[in-house]
Amino acid sequence: MQLFVYHTPELTPAETLPDCAVVIDVLRATTTIATALNAGAESVQAFSDMTTLMEVSDAWLPENRLRAGERGGAKVEGCDLGNSPLDCTPELMGGKRLFISTTNGTRALQRVEESADVITAAIINRGSAVKYLLDKKPETVWLLGSGWEGGYSLEDTCCAGAIAHALTTGSDEITIGNDEVLASIALYSQWKDDLLKMFHSCSHGQRLLRLHCDEDLKYCAQIDSVNILPIQKEPGILVKY
Ligand code: MLT
Repeated sequence: MQLFVYHTPELTPAETLPDCAVVIDVLRATTTIATALNAGAESVQAFSDMTTLMEVSDAWLPENRLRAGERGGAKVEGCDLGNSPLDCTPELMGGKRLFISTTNGTRALQRVEESADVITAAIINRGSAVKYLLDKKPETVWLLGSGWEGGYSLEDTCCAGAIAHALTTGSDEITIGNDEVLASIALYSQWKDDLLKMFHSCSHGQRLLRLHCDEDLKYCAQIDSVNILPIQKEPGILVKY
């Protein structure tokens, strides 16, 4: 398995895709996606723009769908939900399709949606992603951070490092594909004992704190707390593996 880390979708090489893409948006899209499926959502359908989300979800009966929209950390008007994983309760999610559009996470998914295999990872389901990769042994793997509007996000690269660290510890068949893998492992080693402190230091964590999302940060920092792996079954549509 040859492992690559990319901090943002913009930094991925053009005109190529990996055998398996692991999309990461710790704060908070991929945490929310994992939580929704864990709570019994039938599936999650991701959109980079709100207009298409509204058009496609209109074809679904209101009792079978939920619409989640986030821009700049805040809920988009007219949606049922914003992007807080804490809203993804079994009572609300059970049997429904969650239609979701977020500032960066759903755009990152779109960049790699034509890959042979696409999964999503966050701190909360890091172990499930690692297990999948060790079992399947895809030849090339991209750990893709979503970043923030084209820029680097500390928490996404740190999560990539948490995955890379576990993979390289768990197997001697991993080849390091780029220097970003080593950098991400170093970053994870620095913060692994206090991920919440890292969330309080990084720019998007601070943005969410300004929006009073303290409890979201605590939830997103709980490493390996859920045993769920979202996997793409067709472009943009994720289900429980
Ligand atoms: C994103 O896609 O940028 C986010 O998940 C932002 C957020 O809701 O915290």
